[in-house]
Amino acid sequence: MNKPNSSLRTACLALLALSLIACSGESPESESMDEASIYDTSLNMQELMALVLEPASDILWDSGGWVLDSAGYEELYPTTDDGWAYVRAQAAVIVETGNSLALPGRREDDDAWLIYSQGLSEAGRRAMAAAEAQDEEEFFQAGAQLYSVCTACHQAYNPEILNRFDDAVSPAD
Ligand code: HEC
Repeated sequence: MNKPNSSLRTACLALLALSLIACSGESPESESMDEASIYDTSLNMQELMALVLEPASDILWDSGGWVLDSAGYEELYPTTDDGWAYVRAQAAVIVETGNSLALPGRREDDDAWLIYSQGLSEAGRRAMAAAEAQDEEEFFQAGAQLYSVCTACHQAYNPEILNRFDDAVSPAD
């Protein structure tokens, strides 16, 4: 009675040990090569920026703070639950774009690039939480944090973008 049970347990432990060895034995190179073929990274960096990240970010920036127009200061924050839900969804796009930028086949290195990509997701999550709480001040701060991640990465990887991009958007506007 006892024997089959304990040998079964031994076999299970042995299997567990084997699978742990198998996992730790995989070399990082072969892993990232396999992974690279799983994901569709056919959108180039410009497309990812201009078609996915920028539109979502613009909506966030256009939904925070105030603008001065002929009627005086106009508040930009959403005023309805639907409005907040909409900007929260845009913030979610930003969280996931951070992941997209970090994909094998897309990331430019395993260093600063990953830090900026994660910073993007972090700012996106902060904006999501602020939108959920409908916290205007916190939402504005998340937008500013987001902006600083964009400019930091551009400065590091493509300083020419910085100038073009600075003309186009500013959270302070
Ligand atoms: C991890 C790095 C990184 C982050 C973070 C990043 N970008 Fe970029 N971005 C780039 C690189 C690299 C390019 C240059 C792409 C090229 O021209 O090949 C670029 C280019 C752009 C362009 C120009 C695209 C075009 O049509 O030429 C825009 C617009 C842009 N980014 C917007 C943003 C915005 C908005 C954010 C933040 C919400 C952001 N980026 C965050 C790396 C980044």
